Amino acid sequence: MASRHLGTFRPFGLNLTALGAGVLTAMLAVMATPALAGGDASLGEAQAAACGACHGQDGATGLDPTYPSLAGQNEKYLTNQLKMIRDGGRVIPLMAGQLNGKSDADLANLAAYYASLPGKVRQAQGDDETLAKAASMYRGGIAAKGVAACTSCHNPSGGGNALAGFPHLGGQASAYTVAQLTAYREGDRTTDETFGGMMRGVAQGLTDKEIAALADYIQGLY
Ligand code: HEC
Ligand code: HEC
Repeated sequence: MASRHLGTFRPFGLNLTALGAGVLTAMLAVMATPALAGGDASLGEAQAAACGACHGQDGATGLDPTYPSLAGQNEKYLTNQLKMIRDGGRVIPLMAGQLNGKSDADLANLAAYYASLPGKVRQAQGDDETLAKAASMYRGGIAAKGVAACTSCHNPSGGGNALAGFPHLGGQASAYTVAQLTAYREGDRTTDETFGGMMRGVAQGLTDKEIAALADYIQGLY
């Protein structure tokens, strides 16, 4: 995944393509450490039994199609969401009480645990024409409506951007994705505030039909 970005990645004015891969990997590791530091997956696992009742013991098999997969989601995104869910910035009635009394360290550990689990890929269900339209929206946005391409932040394969904390989408249950895109569009989900409201901006231009097609496409993306 990182290799896609290396062409334009030139900190300190260096042309990194001229450097050896080992040096580059070491530099990226050093730069990544502060952003990803924190959680201990094994401590998180010890707290995750209650979560499994709804999110699946593998973190990827929700009890209901509207319950999200957490497995393979990046740690930074998960930590941010867990803090907002605990503190009331993201209201999830079904999760009421689940995070009471948990410290920031507990949440980071839970995030590290779910980030360490392998994600699951689902199958898209739509016909070829609908999927082709969805792929074109995902990859190119909708210029006429000012909808930005999902690819630019969520990666062509739906893998997100772990360093920036942009969520992994690939394989996510489509009913969950439909609910989230609709909630951003209606202004009911405002957790993107720290990102300048970018997802509300993106979702504003989407019809119900486009949201359904995108969510189905994303469910089969890996
Ligand atoms: C009773 C069911 C239930 C339990 C138990 C539960 N959750 Fe959830 N969780 C949900 C539902 C439903 C949603 C999605 C709500 C929505 O549509 O926004 C959710 C959303 C989330 C999200 C947001 C995911 C995303 O992609 O933004 C995270 C993170 C999360 N849960 C973590 C946990 C953790 C960690 C635990 C255990 C401490 C837990 N949940 C326990 C039902 C549950
Ligand atoms: C400019 C960057 C950007 C673009 C473009 C973008 N997103 Fe996002 N997206 C984000 C960020 C950042 C978040 C997390 C915001 C938050 O914390 O609520 C997010 C969150 C989401 C979520 C919620 C994930 C979850 O687990 O709850 C979905 C679904 C989503 N985006 C789908 C899309 C789709 C579909 C497109 C294209 C039509 C798109 N995004 C375009 C940055 C972007």
